[in-house]
Formats: sequence, C-alpha cells, structure tokens
Amino acid sequence: MKRKGILLAGGTGSRLWPITLGTSKQLLPIYDKPMIYYPLSVLMLAGIREIAIITTPEDQPQFQRLLGDGSQWGLSFTWVIQVKPEGLAQAYLLTRDFLAGAPSAMVLGDNIFFGHGLPEVLARADAQLSGGRVFGYHVADPERYGVAAFDADGRVTALVEKPKVPPSNFAITGLYFLDGRAPDLAAQIKPSPRGELEIVDVLERYRAEGSLLVERMGRGFAWLDTGTPGSLLDAGNFVRTLQDRQGMQVGSPDEIAFRQGWIDRDALAGRARIFGKSSYGTHLTTALNE
Ligand code: G1P
Repeated sequence: MKRKGILLAGGTGSRLWPITLGTSKQLLPIYDKPMIYYPLSVLMLAGIREIAIITTPEDQPQFQRLLGDGSQWGLSFTWVIQVKPEGLAQAYLLTRDFLAGAPSAMVLGDNIFFGHGLPEVLARADAQLSGGRVFGYHVADPERYGVAAFDADGRVTALVEKPKVPPSNFAITGLYFLDGRAPDLAAQIKPSPRGELEIVDVLERYRAEGSLLVERMGRGFAWLDTGTPGSLLDAGNFVRTLQDRQGMQVGSPDEIAFRQGWIDRDALAGRARIFGKSSYGTHLTTALNE
C-alpha cells in the first residue's frame, strides 16, 4: 500500500504566542515563503502525494486559502480538524479513515530539514514496510524535545519527552514514518501529565516490540525548529544564506512538483506568474529556464 502523508499544520506555537496572536505560526514566513512549505516539501521529496493536513478549526480557512486542494502541485489534500491541542499522537486517531490501513509519514508544520542526500534518506524510510523509522539529531538543548536513550551497543533503550536530565543529546525530529498500525497503537496510549497523547508513547510501543529504527541524521544535515523567536530568525537566515549563495530554492513545493514530473512546464510557468517579481517567483522562472 502506498504511504500517505500527514502534515500537522498545528495551531499557535505557545512559546511564540505573543507575536503570533491571531495567526498560526506555521503561516508565518521563513525568509521568503510560508513556514508550512518546508515540511510539505519533505513529504513531496519522499514521493508522497496524498496528504492529510491537520489544523485547528480557526486556522483551517487560512491554510486552505494558502494551500488549496493540492492540485496545483499534483497533490491531493484532505482537510482534518483537531479541535484541541491534545497531542501529536492524536493525529493518527484523526486520520484513521484517511489512512485506511496505509503506512504514513507525519511531519510537524514547524520542522525544517535540509541536507545533501535527504531524498535518499526519505526513500529508504519509505521502503521500510513494517515498524517505524524516526530520526535522531544531535542538539545542544535536548531537554526541549523527545530524546532517545541508547545502550553501550547503540541500541535505543527508551524514548522520553522533554526530560529534565536528558539521557543523550539525540532529539527525535518531527518526522515519523510508521506502518499501518499507527492508529491502533495511538488508541492504546493514555494522556501524559501535560494532558497530551505523546508521540513518544506511540514510538515506545514500536521500540518495545523491536520494530523501531532511530536513524541518526549526521552533521551534514540541518534540522531547524522555530519554537523560539531566536530560532525562527535563525531559520530564516539559514535559508537566506543558502539560497543567495547557491541561487537555488530550499523548500519550494512548486519546484519539487515540477522535478518530480507531477506538474508540467505550463503549470510551473503559471505558478511563476502568480508569484510575480517576488524572489520566490524569480526562482521559479529560473527553474523553468534551466
Ligand atoms: C514535539 C514532540 C517531540 C519532538 C518535537 C520536534 O515537541 O513532542 O518529541 O522532539 O516535537 O519538533 P513539541 O512541539 O510538542 O514541543
């Protein structure tokens, strides 16, 4: 069964609340394009075309105005509402009908991935038919994330959410490849002390049965988050630096759809016209002429 995508567009990032009052932070730009374009691009690079987009009830119209039905990129979007922020694992309960037994790749709307070889990493994850695969990334501040504990042989022994004393520096990134049982396993877990169905508790089920692979993303990759005003600015500067130096886009759904062969030249030209003389539009014109 073909893997389906879940894009957790989320609500208002709590730590960014004062500057995002009235809008979801995932609609804010990271440099020259909306934040949500970056994780969407990751699903597209994984070859996934059927995607459920989960939002709060209030934010859904804004996301729909931005992203439409997906057909402009050769994708198909299913819109799903999460009434209250009751945890990432709830996404699997909300998308049970959409998934209909298919394996999934879920990505968080505020996670940005970049690196040489990312398409190959994603292809390998997609090819794993049973169990789960997630990515461990070395960070300076693991207490902000879900963290993996390893034994002396490098095997994962536990996954803990926001530990006061982190067992390692490896944070679990917000990209989860799980098999078709994810909704059933999510239905078995109970809310954590912070009142959420935690994704690490679902991952823990896979780990306990020996079917979870925590793949380390090496230092050649960038995993950025936007949970604080500083990290939001850093992400924008990172994208700007790369794009200005290389003259190539990071996180462009339009360019990826074109290179994947999901839209033709005429469609890309139409998109370039919509974005006009903005830097994003100029990049699309360049991609068209290459
Ligand atoms: C969530 C997950 C955490 C993961 C992080 C990645 O954290 O709960 O395990 O490491 O996303 O961005 P939250 O956004 O709820 O702080």
